[in-house]
Amino acid sequence: MDCTQAIRARRSIRKFRPGAPVPREAVEQMLEAAMMAPSARNTRPWEFFVVEDPELKGRLRRAHPFASMLDTASLAIVVCARPEVQTGVVSGYWPLDCGAAVENLLLQAVDLGYGACWCGCWPSPRVSTLQELLGAQSVPVALVAVGVPDEAPEARGHYDPGKVTWLTP
Ligand SMILES: Cc1cc2nc3c(=O)[nH]c(=O)nc-3n(C[C@H](O)[C@H](O)[C@H](O)COP(=O)(O)O)c2cc1C
Repeated sequence: MDCTQAIRARRSIRKFRPGAPVPREAVEQMLEAAMMAPSARNTRPWEFFVVEDPELKGRLRRAHPFASMLDTASLAIVVCARPEVQTGVVSGYWPLDCGAAVENLLLQAVDLGYGACWCGCWPSPRVSTLQELLGAQSVPVALVAVGVPDEAPEARGHYDPGKVTWLTP
């Protein structure tokens, strides 16, 4: 699968094969893809918590009102931001940088044959609860459920010319 296909095939997966293994190498490839995202002045203002422990995964699920797919997901990757590494002219770009990292992670999961769902954290009140559960100082931006898909939703993105303004000479 190439990049063009992965982008068009990606869907949020909310039903996984329970207990299906996701090998460490695959998870590391997803993390590497996330860390290859662009960031303001290459500050890379992120860190990642990989939650494989079923007990902690269950607590995350209960802390997030829209993450019930964690019941069947094999693991969760929480993408967290470190705003303090961005100062001066690059301060405040971290939500964008972390969003780019999340999207890279999702696309790498598709390419490897896994499914994932982005569950929003920042800027909701869930941030502090997740920080507590993870023991994190950084800001949880997204909780990504990952596993082997047990559903195959149709691709549904589309090109909408109404969203585009062409400024031609
Ligand atoms: C910032 C953000 C937060 C999201 N939060 C959730 C969430 O909490 N739970 C969920 O099931 N999906 C969540 N989603 C997934 C969206 O619902 C999904 O991307 C959208 O409906 C489009 O569907 P698709 O991803 O299958 O193309 C989130 C997506 C984004 C980008």
